[in-house]
Amino acid sequence: MKNKIISESMDVKLDSIFNNLPEYPEFVKDIRRAPKREADLSKEDIKLALKNALRYIPQKWHEKLAPEFLKELKERGRIYGYRFRPQGNIKAKSIDKYDGKTLEGKALQLMIDNNLDFDVALYPYELTTYGETGQVCQNWMQYWIIKEYLKRMNKKQTLALYSGHPVGLFESHEEAPMVILTNGLMIGMFDDMKHFNKAAALGVANYGQMTAGGWMYIGPQGIVHGTYMTLLNAGRLKLGIPQEGDLSGKLFVSSGLGGMSGAQAKAVEIAKGVGIIAEVDYSRIETRHEQGWLNEIARSEEEAFEMASKYANKGEAVSIGYYGNIVDLLEYAVNNNIDIDLLSDQTSCHAVYDGGYCPQGLTFNERTEMLQENKKKFKKLVDKSLKNHYKQIKTLVERGTYFFDYGNSFMKAVYDAGITEIAKNEENPDNGFIFPSYVEDIMGPQIFDYGYGPFRWVCLSGEKEDLLKTDRAAAECIDPDRRYQDRDNYIWIKEADENDLVVGSQARILYQDAEGRIEIALKFNEMVRNGDIGPVMLGRDHHDTGGTDSPFRETANIKDGSNIMADMSVNNFAGDAARGMTLCTLHNGGGVGISKVSNGGFGLVLDGSKRVDNIIKRALSWDVLNGVARRAWARNQNSIETIAKHNKNNENDDHITIPFIADDDLINKTIEESG
Ligand SMILES: NC(=O)c1ccc[n+]([C@@H]2O[C@H](COP(=O)([O-])OP(=O)(O)OC[C@H]3O[C@@H](n4cnc5c(N)ncnc54)[C@H](O)[C@@H]3O)[C@@H](O)[C@H]2O)c1
Repeated sequence: MKNKIISESMDVKLDSIFNNLPEYPEFVKDIRRAPKREADLSKEDIKLALKNALRYIPQKWHEKLAPEFLKELKERGRIYGYRFRPQGNIKAKSIDKYDGKTLEGKALQLMIDNNLDFDVALYPYELTTYGETGQVCQNWMQYWIIKEYLKRMNKKQTLALYSGHPVGLFESHEEAPMVILTNGLMIGMFDDMKHFNKAAALGVANYGQMTAGGWMYIGPQGIVHGTYMTLLNAGRLKLGIPQEGDLSGKLFVSSGLGGMSGAQAKAVEIAKGVGIIAEVDYSRIETRHEQGWLNEIARSEEEAFEMASKYANKGEAVSIGYYGNIVDLLEYAVNNNIDIDLLSDQTSCHAVYDGGYCPQGLTFNERTEMLQENKKKFKKLVDKSLKNHYKQIKTLVERGTYFFDYGNSFMKAVYDAGITEIAKNEENPDNGFIFPSYVEDIMGPQIFDYGYGPFRWVCLSGEKEDLLKTDRAAAECIDPDRRYQDRDNYIWIKEADENDLVVGSQARILYQDAEGRIEIALKFNEMVRNGDIGPVMLGRDHHDTGGTDSPFRETANIKDGSNIMADMSVNNFAGDAARGMTLCTLHNGGGVGISKVSNGGFGLVLDGSKRVDNIIKRALSWDVLNGVARRAWARNQNSIETIAKHNKNNENDDHITIPFIADDDLINKTIEESG
């Protein structure tokens, strides 16, 4: 079929959006740029990648763009279509400034823009929001076409996206989701980094992380709350801090002040402890410092620990950014017998060989250059550094430090670097690792098993006043005396504004269980209905009770053998769609890397209608409780209690299967007697 006929057969295309080919944009100085991505392509593959990218481009621009795309592929490992990137910063505007036939279509454009804001995104030119490689979509051509579809979409249509590619608008119905998107889902036998990198370079796969490709990222605030609770509960569990106590005088050491890891500094301060966070990229230290998320900066190990001890002795909270490599910092602590209470790591180990982890001995710039020029040598240095990193942690743990893996695939990366002793069975990760993950010890039993998770909302008016009203309304919905988790959440939301957490749009994170989420959402929808506030986008991180099957993280405390299954996340995604969430997402790889996790999320626009009240009741309940049900079935005690209570209170609606518990002695006896 001729390109002329193809062009005549569709209205949504780049030359309807742009009259002329846009000028090549100027890159704003000092905006972080993604390193070259891995792309092991043959000559034939390169041809295919070019042809694939040109599918978005009207033929009249092919001659001009083919060499430009080839250059991007060679220099960057991906075709981003930089020419189509809007000039300057992209910022979420107030909802009424967006074009569109539906409120939902406008709201989703706003969410996309927020994910690409210079202040929010890690590598905004490469459409990367956070977690080193998590992208909104693959390229700027997709960005425009998606936005155009969102403008044109009517209430009875659903937009389908495959890994950032807008397949198109399809007729559905008014109660159906407006957008269904998946990212990086691969056929089992090809589900590995090598094939993913090739598919991404060919332009057919997107790494959505969790909320980047799900358009629900709200800046590192989203993880501050989770980190705050993790640190506080680690203190309660391992340092003997009472339930109503805080981390005063206790030292937490970790690394990473990036997209998500940046939350650590703020969280330790809110938990009233002392934190030293190592970071090799000075620009990220500056960003967090300017934002007020990081109190002090130290340029040497000695300075960092001296500062920490000064604050700890006074019982004052502080976060210190140490400019340097975490391995140097830990070596110093070991050699100088410095006590560390809590220790973790939040470098991007899910992409350890792609720049996520800076090896000891290289500066940040040297790491970027070597990645570009000598990947083999870089890999070797990463492995060497991880081995030493592990050695220092082991020594500190022997001396009494509590180390936990912070869901960044650190232990898996150490194992992959050749340290098999980090695996419990000393052979493979099948039985887990010798150090606990924060979910295994803390978040799993104390948070997820009850259904608490990172519920969030964005005030689409962009008005701070709306956010303050929702904060107050949410606080009124929480009974701080119900459980200690509720008290923590109550304190969090009461202090949220004071803690100055907003980056980008007016958004809030608040851990809640199913009951709490429903109550708060209904309250917000009523406020929209009464005109007290503008419309609201509800969502959650994928780092939640339901929606994510991740044996190295979210489901690390699932012990019935089903931790290697992805049934829950897929069912959660389909169930959310069936119940009418506005946006439904399902991803491969979010948080810990390709093939290691299946995770999904949702977005729900509160328009004040009764229709949305019904969606809130049926969909939010399912979204959380399917996760608790799965945990209960795995015999997690707190979940069994939560589900048993739910069955009693919902006799006419839900009914969830609960396991009978077999007696261990009986099992042992049965096996012994059988010979
Ligand atoms: N536990 C959770 O709840 C949770 C949530 C989100 C993300 N994560 C995981 O945490 C990791 C970090 O996420 P992110 O969004 O902050 O990524 P990021 O890439 O934005 O930040 C990581 C930071 O670590 C720094 N770094 C790398 N190597 C270092 C070293 N050796 N010493 C000191 N600093 C070093 C980098 O310069 C970077 O700024 C990812 O693997 C992500 O999947 C965990």
